[in-house]
Amino acid sequence: MLVNGKNHHTIWVHPDNKEIIQVIDQRKIPFEFEVVGLKTPEETFDAIKNMTVRGAPLIGITGAYGIYLGLVNDQSKDWKANLVDTADYLKSARPTAVNLALIIDELVSILGICETWKEACQLAFETSNFMKLREIEWSEAIGNFGCGLIEEVSIRKNGEPVNILTHCNAGWLACIDWGTAIAPMYKAFHKGIPIHVWVDETRPRNQGARLTAWELAQEGVPHTVIPDNTGGHLMQHGMVDLCIVGSDRTTLSGDVANKIGTYLKALAAFDNKIPFYVALPSSSIDFTMNDGITEIPIEQRDREEVSWMEGLDENGQLAKVKIMPDVSPVANYGFDVTPARYVTGLITERGICSASREGILKLFPEVR
Ligand code: MRU
Repeated sequence: MLVNGKNHHTIWVHPDNKEIIQVIDQRKIPFEFEVVGLKTPEETFDAIKNMTVRGAPLIGITGAYGIYLGLVNDQSKDWKANLVDTADYLKSARPTAVNLALIIDELVSILGICETWKEACQLAFETSNFMKLREIEWSEAIGNFGCGLIEEVSIRKNGEPVNILTHCNAGWLACIDWGTAIAPMYKAFHKGIPIHVWVDETRPRNQGARLTAWELAQEGVPHTVIPDNTGGHLMQHGMVDLCIVGSDRTTLSGDVANKIGTYLKALAAFDNKIPFYVALPSSSIDFTMNDGITEIPIEQRDREEVSWMEGLDENGQLAKVKIMPDVSPVANYGFDVTPARYVTGLITERGICSASREGILKLFPEVR
């Protein structure tokens, strides 16, 4: 999608050195646009852990390139054994987004056919590039299927703007291009369908206020940033027609893990009879899990993310300010689980289905 009018992906191979993987440092957006070069699995691990890169699909693809970097940096005869260790190491960077483990396991199993280190490096490079393009295709397909939902509401509203609420950032910054939850909004906007997006700020890291608002502004999509506790009030007053959010891990029964606060939006939507859709590629579906609340690992992150706030100070410098007493304990859960019963439907790369085993298996019969 557009950055200052120029098309951009979130991750790409350095044009002059294919042993450097470049990513946008999302910790600096919207105040700075900085590109970071990853050269080792350790740098890849850190970039995922410290959220230089974040968002389930992007975390997965970054993990794949981390495997490739692990191989190119390992000319030892034990490269096959080291490959397994590197995979376990990278998968441990963050626990909730299933993409990281799914994509890495898929790549490692593909590399099982390689006899030589050279073969493995080349195949890891080619497969990571393929997986990146595959995620873009899936995101665009999600965009097209979801655009149909927005169009239906637009027709019902005789072309009045369709008000869509979203939480966190499930745009192209969280993927490679297009996004998941935001992709239908881009498709509708570019199709000339009037839309307006309510953007939850999404404490404590403000992925909504910082990342979603920035990418929507770059594309010119009308939007309004709101404090996280505002959505319910807007729904009660008929100011929300549709909710679309992303997912870090959705179980086979349709339970959805996403950024903390998503569950509360689903409850408010349910109480106000507002359709609540979850947009996700199949790389975010955990076909081995059922009960999301008891089975999905929920990341807990540092207290500093809650006790400090980052932004531009009056001199326009990036600064951090403390917003609470040091003596007070903090609990910082990164995600929550929305039970399937509160999800109107799942928007996937293969179409829209109910958030249920039957619905998911209808679109993905091969996992039966
Ligand atoms: O902690 P983050 O920023 O990685 O959390 C991201 C989200 O919760 C997204 O909604 C989710 O990963 C879907 S991204 C398409």
